Amino acid sequence: MSLRMSVIGTGYLGATHAACMAELGFEVIGLDIDQDKIDSLTRGELPFHEPGLPELLRKHIATGRLRFTTSYEEIGGWADVHFIGVGTPQKAGDIAADLTFVDAATRSLAENISKDAFIVGKSTVPVGTARRLSKMIAEIKNPDISIGFAWNPEFLREGFAVEDTLTPDRLVVGADSAVTEKVLREVYARALAVDTPFISTDFETAELVKVAANAFLATKISFINAFSEVTETVGGDIRTLADAIGFDVRIGRRFLNAGVGFGGGCLPKDIRALQARISELGLERTMRFLSEVDEINLRRRDRVVYLAEDMIGPLAGKKIAVLGAAFKPNSDDVRDSPALDVAARLFNSGADVNVYDPKANANAAKRFPRLKYVDSAFEAATQADLVILLTEWSEFRALVPTELATVVANRNFIDGRNVMPIDEWEHAGWNITALGRKFESKN
Ligand code: UGA
Repeated sequence: MSLRMSVIGTGYLGATHAACMAELGFEVIGLDIDQDKIDSLTRGELPFHEPGLPELLRKHIATGRLRFTTSYEEIGGWADVHFIGVGTPQKAGDIAADLTFVDAATRSLAENISKDAFIVGKSTVPVGTARRLSKMIAEIKNPDISIGFAWNPEFLREGFAVEDTLTPDRLVVGADSAVTEKVLREVYARALAVDTPFISTDFETAELVKVAANAFLATKISFINAFSEVTETVGGDIRTLADAIGFDVRIGRRFLNAGVGFGGGCLPKDIRALQARISELGLERTMRFLSEVDEINLRRRDRVVYLAEDMIGPLAGKKIAVLGAAFKPNSDDVRDSPALDVAARLFNSGADVNVYDPKANANAAKRFPRLKYVDSAFEAATQADLVILLTEWSEFRALVPTELATVVANRNFIDGRNVMPIDEWEHAGWNITALGRKFESKN
């Protein structure tokens, strides 16, 4: 008989996992403690933007393979495999991860599971968490039933969440026994049939693989952005530099796009949580470079503000169009978004800021209600003294310089993502610069 699954947490990770498991043919219940989320998912409405996911959600609500609940009791007596996909955000006022939700989900499962089952953690957690939770489960669970336990980190990217879940590039599983591992092989049978690497390991390695991957990606971005600081001083072309080193297959071109840096709900908080955990273990020096990675990343935001002032003088009273609020294109996520942070800084310097993002205006407005949000790039740029591109949506890349020139007050442009054809814009009379380019100050 086919496995029945529950997925705890219905954010990017949980909602995607639940819908994709249904797509693979399993019966799934998604659980969240937030009744509003459950109501909206039950209506087939996804509370965030993720390409392809609404279709999958509605498809499997219709097939009857996917439903939602707030009741642990319901899933505890029903599912064979329980996935934990709740958030592990940064703690307020601390760089460590907040494990409240993971702990609460595990405890509720252990208290409510009433038949033999498996618990599989997918959330990103500090090393040592799985072992601690495994003990917690053993202490709490009904002694007459057996609960297998595994850690199985998730590597999905926002914007590609469905694709990454259905066709992952690798599967990493730290299981407590061969029986638990066998169940996970059954869950991922379709990916395994096409030879997706399956890495069978212990809890600690499984937890560390996830944070190591994100720390590596963050380091790669800050590495190229550190070279941006050099080319901004000596001249040179950061894009050519990235292309040239990227041809070396040991380095690779991906994640070497210089610009305003990384944000989102994962990379920033994961490198901070890793430092916190490693310090706790008495290895303060080991991950110290990650605080440099973080600082380089944040300095990119200062650079945009500096360039803005250099281009148009004191910002007070100046009209600035900010193109982009999401932390990356094809997402409405504004968590730790460099774009929104820069917009807020410009506003706090007295500028009159018009923000436009194709999908993230509403989320941005919740976070920074005092900024002005408009409905198009042209509306944002109308009468602007300066236009700044901070999220590389394709509709911004397609802007025609001669057309945008007709609405602005002054043709000043900062490309915060290194995606615009600078020569074309200069040819159309724009004073344009990009992060990583030497900027000839007029002051
Ligand atoms: C990241 C990882 O890529 C996923 O593998 C991981 O599963 C996920 O975190 C997670 O831990 O859940 P995501 O946060 O969706 O995924 O975003 P990325 O595509 O990694 O982009 C992160 C940030 O880096 C964005 O702000 C992006 O604009 C920036 N970036 C990316 C650059 O500044 N330069 C680049 O070359 C690439």
